[in-house]
Amino acid sequence: MANVNITIDGKALSVPAGSTILEAARSNGIRIPTLCFLKELDPRASCRLCVVEVEGARTFQHACAAKVREGMVVHTDTEAVRASRKLTLQLLLSNHAVDCHHCLRIGSSKCDDLDPKFCEMCFFCDCVKDGFCDLQALAREYKVDLLPFAQKHNSLPIDQSSVIVRNPNKCVKCRRCVDVCGAVQTVHNLAASGRGCELTIGPAFGKPMAESACIGCGRCVQVCPTGAIFAREHKDALVYYAHREGVKTAAMISADLIPELERVLHRAPGSVTLGEIAGALKKIGVDAVFDAAEAEEAAKARAEALLDAKLSEGRPVILSGSFAAKAFLEKNFPDKKDSFLFYDSAIAVFGRAAEGFDKRFAFGPIGGDAMECEKTGCVDLAVNPRELARILIRTGAEPNPKRRAECESLGLPKASGKYGKLLDKAEWKMDREPEVFEQGGLKCAVCHNLSEARRVLSGEEAFDLIRVIA
Ligand code: SF4
Ligand code: SF4
Ligand code: SF4
Ligand code: FES
Repeated sequence: MANVNITIDGKALSVPAGSTILEAARSNGIRIPTLCFLKELDPRASCRLCVVEVEGARTFQHACAAKVREGMVVHTDTEAVRASRKLTLQLLLSNHAVDCHHCLRIGSSKCDDLDPKFCEMCFFCDCVKDGFCDLQALAREYKVDLLPFAQKHNSLPIDQSSVIVRNPNKCVKCRRCVDVCGAVQTVHNLAASGRGCELTIGPAFGKPMAESACIGCGRCVQVCPTGAIFAREHKDALVYYAHREGVKTAAMISADLIPELERVLHRAPGSVTLGEIAGALKKIGVDAVFDAAEAEEAAKARAEALLDAKLSEGRPVILSGSFAAKAFLEKNFPDKKDSFLFYDSAIAVFGRAAEGFDKRFAFGPIGGDAMECEKTGCVDLAVNPRELARILIRTGAEPNPKRRAECESLGLPKASGKYGKLLDKAEWKMDREPEVFEQGGLKCAVCHNLSEARRVLSGEEAFDLIRVIA
């Protein structure tokens, strides 16, 4: 694609024609704040946080949606732009159930001289997203310490019917969840209803999540920038069981926890180890800690054995180790049910292997794990990295090189790898191309989200093995 010449903040740039101002800025190391934008989805341009000044334009432009033009001159951080963003934040927070200290640390606050890390984690804030919230981070950046408008304290009911909790009083109507549930997962469970100030986001016909079409993939939780939709947390229960005399507890920890823990704990990338997390959990009283890699290998070994048998019955085989993918496939492709092969997830494998413990905790990335655990009871609590960070900080058990522990072994079977990368650990991704490859004479497709899966399963191309990740 041809390039166009533009100037952003005085920097002369040559960028691909057709890119947005935001793409051009980001690819050249210039930061423009965003709230509703997700790079994998079409821009909604609804939050107004990314506004910039373009010379010759009569109004501010949304950098996430406005395309670059030859000769365009853009200013991303003028006084007027900053004032506009601050006003937007003030308006958002005026219509928001603020349960965190987004502002009190700024200016003459009683918390002012405290360590910012402590502030994010202290007991006075009441929102699960405190310290991890895009809106809070922007409010701090733009020093939104006073709200000049009458505050509208919404008290819409909080939907706690499912492990995925919705608090509409903290929703900024960015619609990331709507798009991820609709365009990426093709479940279309979430939508906007009402107008203007009365607009709410939730399942159709105002149904609670537990009675909605939700399959429990947890992707809306992953993309929500605020505390409006989140997986139910268990901090107090976990600490209670871990401490309690006579309750034997086991935890499974995954290396996926490390990047988020490092971010929250302000540690350098690569400086936190699995051994340190194991040591920290032992400090709060967890009796045995296991590495998720072992359970993943065992889940893979079990899937290999099941696949051998299933392939002898015919093809294609449509396989998944995900609870949400199973719900999706059974609902949308009942005609293909003879091809389905569902194997246990690593969490389920761990849960079974650790049955001798009174309480089993699975620590892993934010996703559908919490729903899987709730529905299948395979472990007692699923804990995401945010929650783990809070537990460790609040109990004074932060990962510490001086306090390491070896992960114990459950002695589980190992996979042979005969299906190549088909059964390897694979992440859910929003980009929509399936990964296609040959393995041992079998044509395989790995679908990284449910719209990919729907396309492959409804398409003309024939595959022997189709793996679905939800
Ligand atoms: S959603 Fe964000 S801004 Fe709102 S109360 Fe929670 S942490 Fe604070
Ligand atoms: S958990 Fe998945 S299916 Fe349920 S509402 Fe969220 S994105 Fe949609
Ligand atoms: S629930 Fe979260 S992701 Fe969905 S519109 Fe509200 S703030 Fe955005
Ligand atoms: S990020 Fe551009 S309008 Fe929200």
